[in-house]
Amino acid sequence: MSSDTPKEPRAPGLLDRRRLLLGGAAAGGVVSSLALAPGLRAAGSPENLPPNTPDWSVYLGEGVDARPYGTPSEYEGDVVRRRVEWLTATPESSVNFTPIHELDGFVTPNGLCFERHHGGRADISPQDHRLMIHGLVERPLLFTVDEIKRFPQENRFYFLECAANGGMEWRGAQLNGVQYTHGMIHCVQYTGVSLRTLLAEAGLKPKGSWILAEGADSSGMTRSIPMEKALDDCLVAYSMNGERLRPEQGYPLRLVVPGWEGNMWVKWLRRIEVGDAAWYHREETSKYTDLLPSGDAYKFTWTMEAKSVITSPSPEKPVTTEGFQVIKGLAWSGAGKIARVDVSLDGGMNWQTAQLHGPVLPKCLTRFTFDWHWDGKPALLQSRCVDETGYVQPDIASLQEVRGVNSIYHNNSIQTWQVNPDGVVENVRLG
Ligand code: MTE
Ligand code: CO
Repeated sequence: MSSDTPKEPRAPGLLDRRRLLLGGAAAGGVVSSLALAPGLRAAGSPENLPPNTPDWSVYLGEGVDARPYGTPSEYEGDVVRRRVEWLTATPESSVNFTPIHELDGFVTPNGLCFERHHGGRADISPQDHRLMIHGLVERPLLFTVDEIKRFPQENRFYFLECAANGGMEWRGAQLNGVQYTHGMIHCVQYTGVSLRTLLAEAGLKPKGSWILAEGADSSGMTRSIPMEKALDDCLVAYSMNGERLRPEQGYPLRLVVPGWEGNMWVKWLRRIEVGDAAWYHREETSKYTDLLPSGDAYKFTWTMEAKSVITSPSPEKPVTTEGFQVIKGLAWSGAGKIARVDVSLDGGMNWQTAQLHGPVLPKCLTRFTFDWHWDGKPALLQSRCVDETGYVQPDIASLQEVRGVNSIYHNNSIQTWQVNPDGVVENVRLG
């Protein structure tokens, strides 16, 4: 090859190293005040980095008997559920939040599923637990947990979202972290028996049009569910993500009410009573209500309507470098599958379609990503999803028009993250 043969131009790398802002020695110094992620600032010991040989490449590691039940790497200690202390009077009747900004894919690891208890976590011995089905049935039944497991099995992925997820954000931007604004959600694979099968075993009487489900925890929580839903896709679950339910999630039995508000998914399930329409008229149904500006309230808002959020960048995940970024997020709909997610970089003026990462399942979290080149200028990041029914995630102004500002439940509005020139990301309300 002669010396004047033009050289192949080097393909520009996706991650342009000269623009990395991490080391402080970044070209241009545009973003000198950048808040670094703690893990990166504390970055390691030089003796472990090339060309040196770290200890773990030299000495034997622990044997297979060291951890009969595995735990995450000690370097992932920040990836935990968190609670907001001032939100509730006690930790027993409270909630903690899933660290959704730290997760990939659409499955929530069992140890990170947010917890919402009204009377603390019940630790139940399965031998001492029974599930009763009674009321308007031919044969009232009392099941042991082992008997429940003998029925034909269902394995299905579903998200669970507390109706209060985002409830603090009705009036304006409140909590500066996606874990707190959107973390009352998890998505796991449930194994259990179809509620329809159990009700058929007891023999439904024709007048049975509601069920009342009751938990065995100290709050004895009850919720009413219309029979149509009970016979549709509800499960009595005993496993999540392949292992038995965690005590926090209702061990040994919980109700799964796909797509509907988390409050109905009664944990530590001990009783199902079948009732008739008179329950409804006597106001004996147990429910959450949604206050309207008029002072009236919606009595039954069961479906968790389509919602999405960008999980990174987010207040917990600042932008650490100019140039290529993967915007990551989650979308879900209690009405079915997610059909599309759009991302805006300018607060909703222009929208571009994000990439969905399958499997895209109904009533399940769906992972989306969007490739972005950040030029170091302020940006207003938003995501907006559409589900298979054609329903479009609303902005907060449209929700407030109908629901006012005193609501708590069912805030599925579009979230805005403001990216500042220093890479810091903040929860903001536009308009
Ligand atoms: N079931 C019982 N028995 N007791 C409870 O306090 N909380 C409900 C529901 N089921 C609750 C319950 C609420 S409000 C929600 S959002 C979900 O459980 C939370 O489920 P998780 O703790 O698995 O996230
Ligand atoms: Co709830």
